Amino acid sequence: MKSRQILAASILAADFSRLGKEIHEAQAGGADWIHVDIMDGHFVPNLSMGPHIVEACRRVTDLPLDVHLMIEKPEKLLKNFAIAGASRLTVHVETCPHLHQTLNSIKDLGCSAGVTLNPGTPLSSISEVIDEVDLILIMTVNPGFGGQQLIRRTLQKVTEARELLQLRGRDSVYIEVDGGIDSQTIMDAAHAGANVFVAGTSIFKHSLGTRSGVQVLREALETETIKE
Ligand code: DX5
Ligand code: ZN
Repeated sequence: MKSRQILAASILAADFSRLGKEIHEAQAGGADWIHVDIMDGHFVPNLSMGPHIVEACRRVTDLPLDVHLMIEKPEKLLKNFAIAGASRLTVHVETCPHLHQTLNSIKDLGCSAGVTLNPGTPLSSISEVIDEVDLILIMTVNPGFGGQQLIRRTLQKVTEARELLQLRGRDSVYIEVDGGIDSQTIMDAAHAGANVFVAGTSIFKHSLGTRSGVQVLREALETETIKE
């Protein structure tokens, strides 16, 4: 029996003037996690939000908060995000010279630890920390902005990650994809081996509303599961 596929709604594409309502609508549509994109204007060329927004999300939902840290020196802010209510903290391998230590610091703070790779970073860069992680996020776009098109080559890395986890007896580790996920690409990503799907634009900017945005993705995933 296939384990449940996780839909993570990325609030980067939400209407921030009504963030609480947006989160409630995503939850009503069946979102499993709320994905929060933290950008510092250095590691990525954009600024977004900080622990204050994580804390605000925590007050309006009991869904897990999946915090994606696109920031330099993430180790300096892990505690702030944990205190704000993050459930999961994911760091970029490109920002962590002491990756093993950083992942263990996340777990010591009581959060699940994730590691992520840019499209240009090979899977081999995380082979030494496979035993430390709960989640591997394969970026399917270059991080920094919502609304981009999925880079198809990255799906091959998803399959390689799935194979590596099987080889190392770490099947319970999530494989997450982030960027350009819609009702078409979600099926390709599932087929490649992903089981957590981050979506911003296709959920919060759906023409029929946020709730429908989540439902359409769920239906696409179910179609993919039936096909297998
Ligand atoms: C990109 C972010 C994504 C972004 C995805 O840097 O990490 O989480 O919100 O947005 P869409 O779904 O619009 O590609
Ligand atoms: Zn993200």
